[in-house]
Amino acid sequence: MKSALITGASSGIGYALAKKLAPDFHLILTGQNEQRLRDLATEINRPCTIICADLSTDRRKIIAEIQKLNPELIIQSAGFGLYGECVALPVDEQLKMIDLNISATVELSIETAKQWIANNSRGIIVNVSSAAAYFEYPSFNIYASTKQFIKQFSKTLDYELMQYGIRVLTACPGMVDTHFRHTASGGYPQEKAFSMSADQAADFIIKQIDKKKRSYLFDWRFRYLIYLQKLFIPNRLIYPYLKKAIDKRHNRSKS
Ligand SMILES: NC(=O)c1ccc[n+]([C@@H]2O[C@H](COP(=O)([O-])OP(=O)(O)OC[C@H]3O[C@@H](n4cnc5c(N)ncnc54)[C@H](OP(=O)(O)O)[C@@H]3O)[C@@H](O)[C@H]2O)c1
Repeated sequence: MKSALITGASSGIGYALAKKLAPDFHLILTGQNEQRLRDLATEINRPCTIICADLSTDRRKIIAEIQKLNPELIIQSAGFGLYGECVALPVDEQLKMIDLNISATVELSIETAKQWIANNSRGIIVNVSSAAAYFEYPSFNIYASTKQFIKQFSKTLDYELMQYGIRVLTACPGMVDTHFRHTASGGYPQEKAFSMSADQAADFIIKQIDKKKRSYLFDWRFRYLIYLQKLFIPNRLIYPYLKKAIDKRHNRSKS
């Protein structure tokens, strides 16, 4: 049976993807919350490999498993964001976000690709970026910057690796109703309006994999905003709009 590795499988989009991919793949499920991963394996009702690790500091166990099982699909969904201005947030938490969202994604992408090239095997890596990657985003600065990095890195890596039959796809969800906002806001109550479900986001990603679409921004409202931006609406008008939308979602002190 083919195998697939999913990071961030213990919650949200990764969790929903695992349930949908389970009939077709032996799953390697990774996250930090072991109980959630075990519950997922029980729900799926198939043998799964479970790896618990804080990917912001330690990717060795996962790289070893990739070398052992040689999965042909890698989905990197692990990631988090923080709402608030940079000066209102702890620096170490912002650096951890960079370590997880960027360093882990980059290291696992490159190690996987090197392994596939050495084995003369093919496969697909899906890196989960965000609609935020398309904007300079006040009050969501480091997060949007990490996702912008991942979008550019993954699209370029896709170009570099196509010659080996390896694809790197960039998924860019808009607002998805998961634990993400709870983490980002430090537990501040969130409105659910305008969010898609994790199930819907997972369906978009599976459609993207089927079509091998290099980059997919699957929320029409963000596509519309980018279109407006391209019509030369200046950033001085867009920034306050974006900042206001984020500042409604947390109560961290504003500078
Ligand atoms: N929800 C949205 O609106 C939205 C929009 C655009 C993009 N995204 C992106 O979609 C991806 C999935 O997010 P989600 O919405 O599904 O959020 P979520 O429900 O909070 O899930 C995040 C996942 O990342 C894992 N994770 C967090 N820190 C980790 C660490 N240090 N080491 C290993 N795993 C870690 C979590 O595992 P544990 O819980 O076990 O720690 C969890 O499985 C993220 O990359 C996010 O940036 C989300």
